[in-house]
Amino acid sequence: MSKVLVTGGAGYIGSHMCVELLQNGSEVVVFDNLSNSSAKSLEAVQRITQKKLDFVEGDLRDKSALAKLFKHNEISAVLHFGGLKAVGESVNNPICYYDNNVNGTLCLIEAMTNAEVKTLVFSSTATVYGIPETMPITENFPTKPINPYGQTKLTIEYMLRDLHTSDSSWSISLLRYFNPVGAHPSGEIGEDPNGIPNNLMPYVSQVAVGELPRLRVFGDDYPTPDGTGIRDYIHVVDLVRGHLSALEFLKDKSKLAVHNLGTGTGYSVYEVLRAFEQASGKIIPYEVVDRRPGDAAESFTNPSKANEELHWRAEYDLHRMCVDSWRWQKRHPQGY
Ligand code: WQD
Repeated sequence: MSKVLVTGGAGYIGSHMCVELLQNGSEVVVFDNLSNSSAKSLEAVQRITQKKLDFVEGDLRDKSALAKLFKHNEISAVLHFGGLKAVGESVNNPICYYDNNVNGTLCLIEAMTNAEVKTLVFSSTATVYGIPETMPITENFPTKPINPYGQTKLTIEYMLRDLHTSDSSWSISLLRYFNPVGAHPSGEIGEDPNGIPNNLMPYVSQVAVGELPRLRVFGDDYPTPDGTGIRDYIHVVDLVRGHLSALEFLKDKSKLAVHNLGTGTGYSVYEVLRAFEQASGKIIPYEVVDRRPGDAAESFTNPSKANEELHWRAEYDLHRMCVDSWRWQKRHPQGY
């Protein structure tokens, strides 16, 4: 039986993807270097689904490891999550990001070409839009990333576009994520960032469980109703179901498509903080500090293109995102 290859499948989004794929009847092989993830997530995936998956530990830049994987597995499609994703880290270490993200993807494309596997769903990001002038963001907005992480993702999008132009037998989906949060309702898998979280939800979650003392609110003087930054948070289970819909959309068609994956609703930092207090029953202490350089006041999408073309729509609201995050964090105060 053919398998779906999930690069970065041991990671936060990748592991949730594996759950949905297995429950949807696919055979899965995961390729992950475990640089920002734990193999324990894959044990949990198999517990949740009561199904087996194959796991190959390796680095996308290891061409022989990739060739061996494609030789020993009949792969029907690739869901490509493998890569580095911390904005701040990318500013301090851009070449490491280009090497991991761009070079890693080049090696993957070469291995896919040699194996004649030409269906690819790529994990892109709303960061490719930079700081747009207006809201909501649609797929035809100009792409002007303001950090190396976003630039690596856009560079990969250009590579894939040129690949498709040169060989239209490729089926490629570029999915631009807004802000993935939450966890599988089982509480067995979730977000487990290395070190101090950069992102709001895991930070708030760690304050609630007592791992961190208080939240630093990065500015309350933005031109928004309560002065704090507004983002389009999307439940990670909704997000990965969007990938199943994208795979369906690509089936038996050779095309390249771009879709924003978000809810279309923006929430401020204070709204997230209050929602998490309600979901956890904990008080989240916070202090207002200076704005974080590079942050936009607002970022949220109009999801109608994905809604209509992928027949997909985010279902879970902010309360459910917080409830599911809290269940994971309460059971795993220090992550895996
Ligand atoms: C959300 C809001 C902050 C932390 C980033 C990446 C993006 C994507 C998602 C990969 C903002 C505020 C945050 C904190 C705070 N990742 N905040 N205190 O910056 O929208 O997007 O993660 O694709 O590429 O850029 O998400 O969660 O960091 O911030 O006040 O400790 O929370 O200012 O308004 P962001 P975030």
